[in-house]
Amino acid sequence: MDFSLSAEHELIRESAHKFGQTEIVPDLRERDREARSDRATLEKMGDAGMLGISIPAKYGGSDTDYISLGIVCEELERADSTARVVMSVHSGLHSLTLMQWGTEEQKQRWLPSLATGKLIGAFALTEPNAGSDASNLKTTARKDGDSYVLNGQKTWISLADYADQFLVITRLTETQAKAPYAAFIVNRNTPGFSSRAIHGKLGVRAGNTGEIFFEDMRVPADCMIGEEGDGFKVAMSALDHGRYTVASGAVGIITACLDACVPYANDRTVQGEPIGKKQLVQQMIASMAQGREIGRLLYYKVGWMKNTGQRHTRECSMAKWTNCAAAFDAANKAVEIHGAYGFCDEFPVERYFRNSRGAMIYEGTHEIHTIMQAEYELGYRSDKPLARMLPTWPFS
Ligand code: CAA
Repeated sequence: MDFSLSAEHELIRESAHKFGQTEIVPDLRERDREARSDRATLEKMGDAGMLGISIPAKYGGSDTDYISLGIVCEELERADSTARVVMSVHSGLHSLTLMQWGTEEQKQRWLPSLATGKLIGAFALTEPNAGSDASNLKTTARKDGDSYVLNGQKTWISLADYADQFLVITRLTETQAKAPYAAFIVNRNTPGFSSRAIHGKLGVRAGNTGEIFFEDMRVPADCMIGEEGDGFKVAMSALDHGRYTVASGAVGIITACLDACVPYANDRTVQGEPIGKKQLVQQMIASMAQGREIGRLLYYKVGWMKNTGQRHTRECSMAKWTNCAAAFDAANKAVEIHGAYGFCDEFPVERYFRNSRGAMIYEGTHEIHTIMQAEYELGYRSDKPLARMLPTWPFS
């Protein structure tokens, strides 16, 4: 067993870290205060080659492995959750799912533009009454000639106002398939499409989240991903990729908490000594270091399973569940260590606290992952190999 990262991984970590600190952090406090998102961040990420990470060179990507995607997410979330959310939605949920399920023609049609950021992709599964109960979809697709006509509404969609295209999961009004679901790539410039931002979020305030609506929106049949009946499986496998990016990003929050707390604990003096000398503070720092180490091991393993073509739904859920809880715990402790300074945005830890709470809700709540882990252990949930997998790495 080899635990070392390659020189390429280290280089990717270094450049993602530099990008986060120079391009994201400088005006972040203002953007977060004003709840101001912009497309410029997406463009900068595209220019820096981040949106092509873990995409084969033949589709215009960087040809790097799947662990590289996790490392980029970790370093971006060390800067800010909103930048990592872009990777989760565009690269994880959208591009990788297209790589797993798309026909060769579909991959050639969309991946090169997605890999360079000329097209921004997003994912639309959740509805007002279909969150944890993801199959309770009301959005419908009706076959009409060589198109499908979509009607319905999706909510809590990251990049709702910025994405050029969405991977949308719908219910089919009529089908011979066993499961009545289908997945489509939907272009926002289609008549019948509209979006609306959600305001007043607790966290991820510098990021765009919204609702999208389909009103008699006609989508060509060749935009279907997979076959009729595959929609729910496409959604679940998308979550195998999205949850991986959330799990790796959560490690970045823990590191950011340590980045803030270690100098603070060394500088802040109480009763004549730095608070870092107090055992209760040491306990909190030690627990953050523990969360970071366990979190990395968990997500590196999932990255390796992706590289080697193994089903990783169970391991990915474990990583997302464990790391998001550890990140929220670290952020709570970071606020505690900063005392009253942790309660205002003079220091970044209050933002980590708010942002890390969100990750325990999206891409499967803490409770959903708890149930999944129990069901795997009890033998109630199947872990059988999947018929459709991501391409293994190295890409051929
Ligand atoms: N890949 C491919 N296929 C899969 C799969 C996967 N990872 N997981 C399951 N499937 C297949 C199964 O094999 C099964 O197929 P067969 O019938 O042919 O055997 C089928 O899908 C149904 O699977 P399950 O029986 O496991 O499905 P379930 O109904 O038990 O799932 C659940 C229950 C796990 C709780 C699921 O509903 C779930 O994950 N809910 C949470 C949804 C969620 O995470 N939403 C987040 C929205 S996205 C978001 O938040 C992003 C954002 O923008 C912020």
